[in-house]
Amino acid sequence: MKELIRKFVEAYGPSGYEDRTRAVIQDEIEKYADGVSVDVLGNLIALKKGDGTGKKIMIAGHMDEIGVIVLSIDDNGFLRFSNVGGLHPAVVLGQRVIFENGTVGVIGSERVDDPKDLKLDKLFIDIGAKNRQEAEAKVSVGDMAGFHVPMVDLGSRLVSKGMDDRIGCAVMALAMQRMGRTPNDCYFVFTVQEEVGLRGARTSAFAVGPDLGISLDVTRTGDTPKSITMAVGLGKGAAIKVKDSSIVAHPKVKNLMAETARKHNIPYQFEVLEGGGTDSGAIHMTREGVPSGVISIPTRYIHSQCEMVDLGDIEACVNLLVKILEGPVNL
Ligand code: CO
Ligand code: ZN
Repeated sequence: MKELIRKFVEAYGPSGYEDRTRAVIQDEIEKYADGVSVDVLGNLIALKKGDGTGKKIMIAGHMDEIGVIVLSIDDNGFLRFSNVGGLHPAVVLGQRVIFENGTVGVIGSERVDDPKDLKLDKLFIDIGAKNRQEAEAKVSVGDMAGFHVPMVDLGSRLVSKGMDDRIGCAVMALAMQRMGRTPNDCYFVFTVQEEVGLRGARTSAFAVGPDLGISLDVTRTGDTPKSITMAVGLGKGAAIKVKDSSIVAHPKVKNLMAETARKHNIPYQFEVLEGGGTDSGAIHMTREGVPSGVISIPTRYIHSQCEMVDLGDIEACVNLLVKILEGPVNL
């Protein structure tokens, strides 16, 4: 399981440039699917057929990761950049980033006397170029980079960039691998461009037209020193979303998740996330509306290069997803 997660999180794939990540995921899941396709925007859609008596379920996890995009290149070869997805200046300062062609850069800052003045426009990427010409030989305006850092194995916990949301993709891949016969047609959709506005989920949900939508994504925790107020804790089980800024989970879907967890002794916790959204936000507003919910993977330090997850939580999320997909769904 750890090696599968490592492959997923270390792949390059800022929003809109998910091709490499998609290739890694497709290679892993193709053997468990009855059919695989890629749509116009780049969503990877894998169908696991049911026996024809059940529902059509869409399961979504996003392949894209946060990153940076080059705004301009100066005469000395330094790159100014903007964010792709939510990015905090203090989190990116001093980090390494990698472009699709393998060019690596480090993020430096102008002199800033008051830390409050540390904004993204004070930062730059240094790719080791001596001048504009050298820089432009490697990187162009509009090129995107993601964090460049290997996953770290802490035993029962893993740390990496890109857990948001490759860990959701990994949960889906593991569920595809483990699930048995099902009455339901299960469409596993590995979506694009979540971090910039749930865009891949919107088009793929329209195409699939599901009876039930479930997305898998990370959520914050409230268990670190003087953290935000939040009941979710790392290692306390699958988080069943009640609300975030993109969706109020359908009560019947929330209850289906909680009842399934109780029935199978799967550890779970309810999640109320004050800021942030996920693919179900787009799925539930598709066509005439789709009852939708979210299974969240508790994650510390989201949108940093040190996103931390717990293997017990991942097991719980996989088990919960498998049991929901296998069982008859009556909403
Ligand atoms: Co995110
Ligand atoms: Zn996410």
